[in-house]
Amino acid sequence: MTIQDINNRFSEELQNLYDSSEIQAIFRYYIEIRLNIIDSFLFNDDKMDFEIKTFEEDLLQLKDGKPVQQIVGRAFFYDFFFRVNEYTLIPRPETEELIYLISEQYNKDQTLNVIDLGTGSGCIPITIKKILPQAAVSAIDISTEALAIAKQNAEELNAPINFIQQDLLEEFYLNQKFDIIISNPPYIRELEKAEMHENVLNHEPHLALFVSDEDPLIFYRRVAEIGLNHLTENGKIFCEINQYLGAETKKMFEKYYKKVILHQDISGNDRMLEVYN
Ligand SMILES: C[S@@+](CC[C@H](N)C(=O)[O-])C[C@H]1O[C@@H](n2cnc3c(N)ncnc32)[C@H](O)[C@@H]1O
Repeated sequence: MTIQDINNRFSEELQNLYDSSEIQAIFRYYIEIRLNIIDSFLFNDDKMDFEIKTFEEDLLQLKDGKPVQQIVGRAFFYDFFFRVNEYTLIPRPETEELIYLISEQYNKDQTLNVIDLGTGSGCIPITIKKILPQAAVSAIDISTEALAIAKQNAEELNAPINFIQQDLLEEFYLNQKFDIIISNPPYIRELEKAEMHENVLNHEPHLALFVSDEDPLIFYRRVAEIGLNHLTENGKIFCEINQYLGAETKKMFEKYYKKVILHQDISGNDRMLEVYN
């Protein structure tokens, strides 16, 4: 089996699920992560059966709509590969834009206290620690399974993070103030499910994605409240937000904070909020 054979099989067998540019992206991703295996079975007959079996099993999962990142167990984010599984959201390019927004405003020699609320794979705090190595970085999630993956990512990427298991919707107090509070909390309303791809709906954790139609800003209100007790005097909150709720989310923060800037993502959608204490 050659790399071209794999490309052909992907094109034939995934055409009902994805368009051709998505299939090409999946193919390239698959090849990149599995390349060592592919290299070895091209030259080693002993390994061939095993490798072809792996490929066929991977293809079956792809046909079942499982995201390629979950199949190979890694997702690329910013500059790093992060472990992901069914308990962690696959980090998104929009969230990389949030990291760029933050990285433009601080420099690597600053000693800062930073916390990420709803951390999933740990992609945000770990990337921040890599960019701002003098920062003390904490991260909260309710999911012990997601935190286990986040801890593994932090160890493997050599980025010490203080991980905390906590329900953000409960009252809690941390004995510390933060210069930067970051959050990409669940923000998709149930009513938006209709426009979502099946592979996200069936394979990514609903705990990470959805909020009720009745109270879609529930997590942002909590982030605002947490900021009142935990931001330093010149501290800031940076959030990724639901593109359809930019104005509402901004207005909610303005009840608590003096200045709120709404930023668009690369596609021109309302996507990030920068909140000044
Ligand atoms: C949209 S995901 C973001 C994950 C990661 N920060 C990223 O950008 O890829 C939201 C995260 O919030 C967590 N979460 C959901 N409800 C929570 C709660 N009540 N308290 C704390 N974390 C929660 C989920 O487990 C999930 O990891």
